[in-house]
Amino acid sequence: MSANIAEMEKRRDAAKLGGGQKRIDAQHAKGKLTARERLDVLLDEGSFEEMDLYVEHDCVDFGMQDQKIPGDGVVTGSGTINGRLVYVFSQDFTVFGGSLSARHAQKICKVMDAALKVGAPVIGLNDSGGARIQEGVASLGGYADVFQRNVLASGVVPQLSLIMGPCAGGAVYSPAMTDFIFMVKDSSYMFVTGPDVVKTVTNEVVTQEELGGAVTHSSKTSVSDLALENDIEALLAARDFFDFLPSCNRDDVPERPTADAWDRLEPSLDTIIPPSANQPYDMHEVIRKTVDEGEFFELQPLHAGNIIIGFGRVEGRTVGIVANQPMVLAGVLDINSSKKAARFVRFCDAFNIPLITFVDVPGFLPGTDQEHNGIIKHGAKLLFAYAEATVPKITVITRKAYGGAYDVMSSKHLRGDLNYAWPTAEIAVMGAKGAVEIIFRGQDADGIAAKTKEYEDRFANPFVAASRGYIDEVIYPHSTRRRIALGLRKLRNKALENPWKKHDNIPL
Ligand code: HXC
Repeated sequence: MSANIAEMEKRRDAAKLGGGQKRIDAQHAKGKLTARERLDVLLDEGSFEEMDLYVEHDCVDFGMQDQKIPGDGVVTGSGTINGRLVYVFSQDFTVFGGSLSARHAQKICKVMDAALKVGAPVIGLNDSGGARIQEGVASLGGYADVFQRNVLASGVVPQLSLIMGPCAGGAVYSPAMTDFIFMVKDSSYMFVTGPDVVKTVTNEVVTQEELGGAVTHSSKTSVSDLALENDIEALLAARDFFDFLPSCNRDDVPERPTADAWDRLEPSLDTIIPPSANQPYDMHEVIRKTVDEGEFFELQPLHAGNIIIGFGRVEGRTVGIVANQPMVLAGVLDINSSKKAARFVRFCDAFNIPLITFVDVPGFLPGTDQEHNGIIKHGAKLLFAYAEATVPKITVITRKAYGGAYDVMSSKHLRGDLNYAWPTAEIAVMGAKGAVEIIFRGQDADGIAAKTKEYEDRFANPFVAASRGYIDEVIYPHSTRRRIALGLRKLRNKALENPWKKHDNIPL
């Protein structure tokens, strides 16, 4: 018996060395952790249970039959994060560059299937040279098997991808179909074709970092939700982030104790709106003063800053927050901000996370750039997402809610459950000056000024909307947290279903 155990231990130890000490040292020299070290940081200590440690590839071409490394370049299994179950895979760059063979893919598929069966999230740590070149089409098939599971799991269990090394070619499409992507600065990149191919085809000269590094993808493209400084920071951020997520679409949001009183008043919010309508203020302050302990996990902070998205908690329970940001482009809705918020709203709706929307929006951004790039179709995404969402929806209009953007931002008409306005709210078709210049075209400056004043007096307030029941109550800004907490309590058992359909046809 002891000989058998010794044999098992010998095999385990050999497998855990991956591609060997030399390659582990090379990984460390690049400032990267190994696949196993990453799991040690991500998961609760001692919680990792590995599967498929002894799986090997079955390739016999190009001398591969003589190069077998147990585990085949990916470490898979399950563990816990702050006590909650998660399934994981972590690609091992020290084994054939973390490249994906048929068996490697089979291991990933196995953890995804297990996660789907029990209703637990999947976190993938990606660090791979792509398709295992020696295996050819078997590797491509393996990718497709993973893609298919990404799609089936979408909306059923949360999926998070950490990109911690190369991720190129078709390999990018698995992370792209997960819910969130975190990238590590300087050591990770994602692109469909690399700088060499780009140079050959288009003559452009570009570095890997510029083409598809963490900063590019979290500012320009929005492929990535966050850019983190290094492996440790990314893994710790993933742990914090995980705590906000329900385990699956059948579960309620996680709940944790908080010392922050549900009815905490914030007198400073009574004066946060500047006297002039054109002066900005930081919507982050409103958000932080509303959520538990001021803790707000923002996503995509570097992309489309005119809208803010992220998670917070109220009375210890996760809420999704969407807010116009007056500090960037006056909080206007444009293509990027619409797309950014729409996907977030849909994630929250899929996973039973209540939506809190703070509104200060002057409308949609005018211009040929926006029109020719499809603001109609992209703006419709956000409208569609809010309209189909059946989770609790609480809206607070702090200042401007103009035009179509008023409708879009979780208005009463889109089945907003509780729609509040601060006394500073202005709910109208457009700003007073623009409105008067259209309906009183041709009047002299004095006439325009007088009519503008009249328009402001009539419409630059929340009471016209409130008199029609579009606003449930005009509230003191200082009582915003209290109102939201009370609203969420009331809405805990909200039951609302959309008509049966195979799936909708959101304007993609
Ligand atoms: C097999 C691979 C590999 C791959 C790397 N290796 N990529 N083995 N298949 N795709 C091996 C190398 O042979 C090497 O083995 C080890 O991994 C480390 O690679 P290096 O090149 O030494 O490392 P580095 O200099 O850091 O460069 C990393 C790299 C480069 C940029 C990823 O290896 C690279 O360009 N690889 C090929 C990438 C690629 O073209 N992949 C196919 C893309 S097409 P030793 O034994 O020396 O340690 C694709 C299609 C997917 O992925 C389609 C899905 C639908």
